[in-house]
Amino acid sequence: MIAVFNFGSQFAHLIARRVRDLGVKAEIVPFDISAEKLGKLNPHGIIFSGGPASVLEKGSPRPDKKIFELGLPILGICYGHQVIAHMLGGKVVKGKHREFGKETLNLKKKSQIFAGLLKKQEVWFSHGDQVSKLPKNFTATAGTSGCASAAYQSSTQKIFGIQFHPEVTHTARGREIISNFIFSICNAPKNWKIGSVSKTIIAELKNTIGSAHSIVGISGGVDSLVAATLLHKAIGNKLHAVFVDTGLLRKDEVKSVAAVLRKRNFKHLYVIDAQELFLNKLSGVVDPEKKRKIIGHTFIEVFENVIKTKLKKYPVKYFAQGTIYPDRIESAHTSKHASKIKSHHNLTLPKKFSFKIVEPLKDFYKDEVRKLGALLKLPYDMLWRHPFPGPGLAIRIVGEITDERLSILREADDIFIEELKRTGEYGKIWQAFAVLLPLKTVGVMGDARTYEYILALRAVNSVDGMSADWHKMPSKLLERISSTIVGRVRGINRVLYDITQKPPATIEYE
Ligand code: XMP
Repeated sequence: MIAVFNFGSQFAHLIARRVRDLGVKAEIVPFDISAEKLGKLNPHGIIFSGGPASVLEKGSPRPDKKIFELGLPILGICYGHQVIAHMLGGKVVKGKHREFGKETLNLKKKSQIFAGLLKKQEVWFSHGDQVSKLPKNFTATAGTSGCASAAYQSSTQKIFGIQFHPEVTHTARGREIISNFIFSICNAPKNWKIGSVSKTIIAELKNTIGSAHSIVGISGGVDSLVAATLLHKAIGNKLHAVFVDTGLLRKDEVKSVAAVLRKRNFKHLYVIDAQELFLNKLSGVVDPEKKRKIIGHTFIEVFENVIKTKLKKYPVKYFAQGTIYPDRIESAHTSKHASKIKSHHNLTLPKKFSFKIVEPLKDFYKDEVRKLGALLKLPYDMLWRHPFPGPGLAIRIVGEITDERLSILREADDIFIEELKRTGEYGKIWQAFAVLLPLKTVGVMGDARTYEYILALRAVNSVDGMSADWHKMPSKLLERISSTIVGRVRGINRVLYDITQKPPATIEYE
């Protein structure tokens, strides 16, 4: 295992993913983990991630100094590179010119970390500070025109530092640098393979749950579907899958997701039609936060009811959730240094149902969950769906939610998404959807004047939803989508394409 010290969570996640892609288990640990605690994890090596702080700032994050005495190989990246130099007696200064973007790295000395690389490399920088004086027994192994010690290593310990980011694809040979570190320097075994990992999870689930029964909530998203399928493999008919139809899901979503589970012979699948209840409670509500609260509470109410009625006769002890690795890291270590991420929307049941929680996907990234899903032979379309928010279409109808508005939005969204899929554009986009605005404008159809709603189309590219850019959609495609929607969906006579980035706008409208 490689321990990735988290000095800024997005950087740490990307590094951990790269290590796992190379076949070695990577775990993210808080930057201030004690040497003792770390030692117990028995890692083969350590990577210090980059991060937004500067070592020159008061109170910026520092690892436990005793970590350097464990004799483990350490690779510092960007902030990690600076913090090592700073803590071991070197000096970090504000760079004369800030290096952001691509730079040419010149290798100065033979180094294990750069084995197999040419003397000149394109690498990606993103930091203002740089190391101006190296600690004792350290030598610079590479530099750029503006930064003499862009890489260093210790001659007495296996400590390496690189000022640039090997984990981003813009650093052309970054993968080899990480590979050199984990294999040649740390001697880590290559044993992280999703196929064998899935067998282990199924065996563990079987073991943990034993003869008891477990509930799993189905949301229509990838994570809960893969979690449910793994659980079903492990405990078969002792699994109870609950899928609440809130009336806020997309066209045919309930039908198609339920069909997948039925095909896999889920004996206890409860599709609960709660559309009326949700719509009644949401009637007249326009405030986005109120909508979210009502949906959350109603969801729990419906779930509690299922547990008290349909599941009463079964020895249910476990409650399974589709929590994935980034959700866990985000919520566990929200120190002032970690970037804040939207709170996760897993269902938390009241204390009176004292179920034990199982999280079959808790160690995996989204791409690994998709690989697992593919191994379990889940349909491609379901695995590669764009993210969909918990409150569903409720936050894509600006203003009041009515039956009429829901069906208008469902139809329009379906046309948009199907057209993106048909033309192959869907796979190039991180998230795409339609939003119904509560405004009516004048139009003309045939000879008649119309007075109908405006629909906004949103398609964005992002890595994690924290920031996003609007998708540069081909204009011909936009034109076709717009005319198909206005032609086919009664109630819409105008279509807009949203070209706002996040920030300042959010991805969703509410
Ligand atoms: P925003 O609108 O905050 O969205 O830019 C970022 C990402 O989060 C999703 N999102 C939600 N997901 N419950 C969820 O489960 C919510 O209340 C919620 N609000 C936004 C959004 O779809 C996007 O992927």
